[in-house]
Amino acid sequence: MKILVTSALPYANGDIHLGHLAGAYLPADIYVRYQRLKGRDVVYICGTDEHGVPVTISAERQKKTPREIVDYYYQSIKKSFAAFGMTFDNFSRTTLPIHHRMAQEFFLKIYTKGNIYPQEVEQFYCPRCKRFLPDRYIIGICPKCSADGARGDQCETCGHWLEPSELIDPRCLVCGEKPQKTRTKHWYFKLSEFQDKLAAWIETKKDWKETVLTFVKGWLREGLEDRPITRDLPWGVPVPLEEARDKVLYVWFDAPIGYISSTIEWAEKRGEPDLWKEYWFNKDTKLIHFIGKDNIVFHALIWPAMLMAYGDYILPAEIPANQFLNLEGDKFSTSKGYAIWLPDFLEDFQADSLRYVLTRNAPEARDTDFTWRDFQAWHNNELADILGNFINRTLTFISKYYSSSVPTASAFTETDNRILNLLHNAPTTMGDKIERFEFKNALQEVMKIAQEANRYFDHSEPWTTRKTNPLICERTMYVCMKIVTSLSVLLEPFLPFTAEKIKQMINFIDQKWDDISAPHVAPSIGKPEILFQKIDDKTIDIQVEKLKKQEIAIEEFQKVILKTARILEAHVAEGSRNLVQCTIEVGDEKRQIVAGIAKYYKPEELVGKTIIIVDNLKPAKIRGVESHGMLLAAEGKEGIVLLTTDKPMSSGATIK
Ligand code: 2FM
Ligand code: ZN
Repeated sequence: MKILVTSALPYANGDIHLGHLAGAYLPADIYVRYQRLKGRDVVYICGTDEHGVPVTISAERQKKTPREIVDYYYQSIKKSFAAFGMTFDNFSRTTLPIHHRMAQEFFLKIYTKGNIYPQEVEQFYCPRCKRFLPDRYIIGICPKCSADGARGDQCETCGHWLEPSELIDPRCLVCGEKPQKTRTKHWYFKLSEFQDKLAAWIETKKDWKETVLTFVKGWLREGLEDRPITRDLPWGVPVPLEEARDKVLYVWFDAPIGYISSTIEWAEKRGEPDLWKEYWFNKDTKLIHFIGKDNIVFHALIWPAMLMAYGDYILPAEIPANQFLNLEGDKFSTSKGYAIWLPDFLEDFQADSLRYVLTRNAPEARDTDFTWRDFQAWHNNELADILGNFINRTLTFISKYYSSSVPTASAFTETDNRILNLLHNAPTTMGDKIERFEFKNALQEVMKIAQEANRYFDHSEPWTTRKTNPLICERTMYVCMKIVTSLSVLLEPFLPFTAEKIKQMINFIDQKWDDISAPHVAPSIGKPEILFQKIDDKTIDIQVEKLKKQEIAIEEFQKVILKTARILEAHVAEGSRNLVQCTIEVGDEKRQIVAGIAKYYKPEELVGKTIIIVDNLKPAKIRGVESHGMLLAAEGKEGIVLLTTDKPMSSGATIK
């Protein structure tokens, strides 16, 4: 059997954060490392998803070209993944010619088979930006949860998948203009035709995660609809049809094909260009897609339907989607800049501490929460005090009292046998769990060994037997070395850097996963080193503060529309001592705003001033008076001072 593992291709429009890792990447890496240790034929594929609206929007906002954005983030993501210990066999990019070729070929084949058809549709068009507004270029109010700022493809607040036409009060993301419906032509994938086939296929997936099955069955129950798979965008894989020359493939059509093109690239790099076919066209290959829950619909329904339409290729065997990891009680939000970015994290802490905490707290069945305090506690109390402590006390003892030569023994007591038995069973018990994608439980098993090992050490009191009964002491230390040797392999999928350090220190004799049930101990050890230094409160306080002083992404700032306005009339609001009610002019428009500045300005001083206002603030009632916008003022020891322009300026001008 062959195993082909993929992790969702991250968009090359930003760095990886902890939420991403917990969802699609770390579990896959643990799984793959384990399979390699089992000696199985496994290939692990990933790469960056470099097309689509997420990339073009980031490019526009950062005043860069999409090419500049994807080139930068491809490198940055690749680098931080490597530092985190991810072991992809290939990390590709969807902008490579091989991917464009594959995506176009895929499209043409299913088009020729009649599974793709053109249709005239009405689509939102921004008259000011003079362009169509696909997916996330349009925002509005979510019809499900009423949150504002929902995107044309999905509401980030409630997770509901949307069509742009469902948005209430739709607006152009770039300029805020109300879009017009304009006719255009798009190509649709006949997803509806695969409803029965998909339902029958899903029926065979009884052991899939409950969360995945519930989601998929919900979609099937509602009935699958055909989906447009082309877009009016200047960036993407060109649609390979003469009549669609100015269109590109929808990013979610080309991205999963990236799994195939990345495998082709892998095979080519190995000098065996046809090797990929032995995976993708082989019924004996187990295809496993690791993803986060927001990608379920694409991987469990649309992508399998595309593969069914094409024929030949295998279908996914497993889709162990994870739920979400939250951050200190709130959702990770790239747009709000509320996240812990992997490169930042790795500047301050060890990758393995993060791998440990993210696995211990993996969102396997439900959403979980990352907190800095848990991170500190688990690192200190478990990695340092349990695991690190056992290994360190064993190795320092041998180094100090046996000049680094490992003692041996042949007969064992019941106490010794109890722990040796744990080692004997561990590869199977842990392996079963890993193969069922229960990484959290598997990690718990190995930590249980470390915990038992400390108890064994305490109970055996080698520091006493060394003097009273050296033979017993030798036996204890030999058993301890068996445990350390086993741990260095059992930990590898989870804590690869630590496993490597242990192996170095114990002069590890190469052994695989199954060998380790009866570990082979090297005759001598090297110099013991501390594996985990404790993390102090101050270090954690700094991180907590960083999160509070939330940095915001440029995207978020750009949502705020600031304009100049002229104060036409002002008076102190009725029944108030501090509120001034002003009539202002913003370009051609007149409106009323209210501000708490009466202590600092007399109303007559205000008239004629050019001020700066937040133009798109939701109207609010302040002490019963409507305010449409908010004026900007600086507050310091001098009191409150209004912001105004450096030179005379007309009202309604945008602040950049
Ligand atoms: O959600 C995302 O980040 C997408 N870029 C995942 C794509 S997965 C695959 F299909 F390529
Ligand atoms: Zn616009």
